[in-house]
Amino acid sequence: MKKKLDLTNILEDARPDNYHELALECSWDEYFKVISSRRSIRVFDQTPVPASVIRNAIDAGLIAPTSSNLQQTEFYWARSPERKAALVKACLSQPAAATSQELVVIVARTNTWMRNSAAIITQLRESGAPKSAISYYEKLVPLAYRNGPLGLLGLFKRVYFFVKGLAGPVPREPKSFADIRVWTHKSAALASENFMLAIRAQGFDTCPMEGFDSKRVKKILGLGCGAEICMVVSVGKRGQGGVYGPRLRLPREWFAFEI
Ligand SMILES: Cc1cc2nc3c(=O)[nH]c(=O)nc-3n(C[C@H](O)[C@H](O)[C@H](O)COP(=O)(O)O)c2cc1C
Repeated sequence: MKKKLDLTNILEDARPDNYHELALECSWDEYFKVISSRRSIRVFDQTPVPASVIRNAIDAGLIAPTSSNLQQTEFYWARSPERKAALVKACLSQPAAATSQELVVIVARTNTWMRNSAAIITQLRESGAPKSAISYYEKLVPLAYRNGPLGLLGLFKRVYFFVKGLAGPVPREPKSFADIRVWTHKSAALASENFMLAIRAQGFDTCPMEGFDSKRVKKILGLGCGAEICMVVSVGKRGQGGVYGPRLRLPREWFAFEI
């Protein structure tokens, strides 16, 4: 009998039974040192950042998890002094940008899922992946990412899943372009954090920024619609007074719940 196409089947059937990857031993102390010593730096000193440090960090960003593994995050590292200066200006000349040695823009793409999905299907076919893994990209991904002309398919999905959801759990998003934007930014933000932690692990510092003129940043990068600026991250070595104060966090019990 032909199996019904649903998410549970696809995710379950896509699991190959002959692949296992060992979990490497890690050091909590070293990991915590990296995440706890990452601070947002507003004043960098003049120490140059080796190109390999930025490239390693971009590579770390590129292995961050992404929604459906669609890999819609891009990194733009400003190499020319003119482009960097223009970016500093587009970041409103804030000190974290103006004193930085390097600037990397992390871009969330809402319009690359089709290209990436097709490339993933090709790779899955070549590697003899289970049929349901391929179906995931051929059927479910387009269903999720397409909202149709004037968002009408999205509207239909909203009503359909509302009704179906009365009987049990259903995937409710994305049902609009706004949801697609949220999805792509989630993945881009994870990639940004990987990038920043990788910079810290190599002895340098960062500041994530959303204080920028997105239209101008896109123009500098030569990007049009379908590209959204997630963050601009400045990189360098922390200078005197570069950390504005001890880490300020509100009470843990406001945010962490064991339910
Ligand atoms: C998405 C995002 C955007 C931010 N934008 C800016 C910014 O434009 N300028 C800036 O100086 N800091 C910016 N920050 C840094 C935050 O102010 C900082 O993370 C926060 O104060 C906590 O400090 P910490 O990163 O040292 O722990 C941003 C952080 C995030 C996550």
